[in-house]
Amino acid sequence: MFPITRLRRLRYNATLRNMVQETQLHHSNFIMPVFIHYGKNVKQEIASMPGIYQFSIDLAIEECKRLYNIGVQSIIVFGIPEHKDETGECACTENGIVQQAIYAIKKAVPQLYIIADVCNCEYTTHGHCGTIVNNDVQNDMTLVTLSKQSVSLVQAGADMVAPSDMMDGRVLAIRSALDESGFEQIPILSYAVKYASAFYGPFRDAAQSSPQFGDRKTYQMNPANSREAIREIETDIAEGADIVMIKPALSYLDIIHTVKQSCNIPVFAYNVSGEYAMVKAAAKQGWIDEQRIVFEILTSIKRAGADCIISYHTQDIIELLP
Ligand code: PBG
Repeated sequence: MFPITRLRRLRYNATLRNMVQETQLHHSNFIMPVFIHYGKNVKQEIASMPGIYQFSIDLAIEECKRLYNIGVQSIIVFGIPEHKDETGECACTENGIVQQAIYAIKKAVPQLYIIADVCNCEYTTHGHCGTIVNNDVQNDMTLVTLSKQSVSLVQAGADMVAPSDMMDGRVLAIRSALDESGFEQIPILSYAVKYASAFYGPFRDAAQSSPQFGDRKTYQMNPANSREAIREIETDIAEGADIVMIKPALSYLDIIHTVKQSCNIPVFAYNVSGEYAMVKAAAKQGWIDEQRIVFEILTSIKRAGADCIISYHTQDIIELLP
């Protein structure tokens, strides 16, 4: 009680402030997304995501060397294929854009840890995350392509798979398929709690993956729900998820916190494209101090309970971290 207790005593000296700091960012906590575009010699900036580019494989290799050299230890890869099809089969073969990219990146930068996003939306002509029957995504048919895609990505060299489609049962289906192919050591990072969010807008430009009709509300979660998040987490853990992810991050810090309190497996968070775009837009106007804002945002995500953060800001801050 005041005047004996004075909380400001521990704030007067920078060394002391650091000694009692509760949340620390470390470079190993960050994962950088990389977009792979078909073709050669392509480096296209994404209009709504300044500083983020689509690279063809030849230039992606150089980009990954650069990322590794500045301290990025892990990337997550997304693909923009030349041709799409009805079910996303084009993402299930060794000739797939991401498979080719992973193979080439692994060869050039073997120490870089590669996570492969598993989903159909970038590979289907209609832009939905699965196979369409009667105008909706058919859950169980989609499990077939997701499993095939996962095995194929691991065969190409992916170190981890991250299903982002939100089909029921996909973690079990992918786990079984990986195990049958002898990949029982490959972890599954499940986008267990993925909300139907407007914050993915810029990503859909980047990955050219907007649904051509309807929306994703029959498979992604309603932003108003938090108890349902726990059910998603519980089912994914039961199905064999090694790590669970919450996405987006900033409007869902309460969910990250609740999930962290209620389960004992690692929790990751995705600081998504719309969150990045807002920071970059305001910074460009000179309205905010970008670096301080980015540190505050990333610290808040970690403080809420995230062990690791997928963030487009990774390349901007990694060199400033221990
Ligand atoms: C789906 C996927 C999406 C993102 C990552 N994986 C988009 C979606 O569900 O529409 C969004 C990431 C971001 O906004 O940064 N494959």
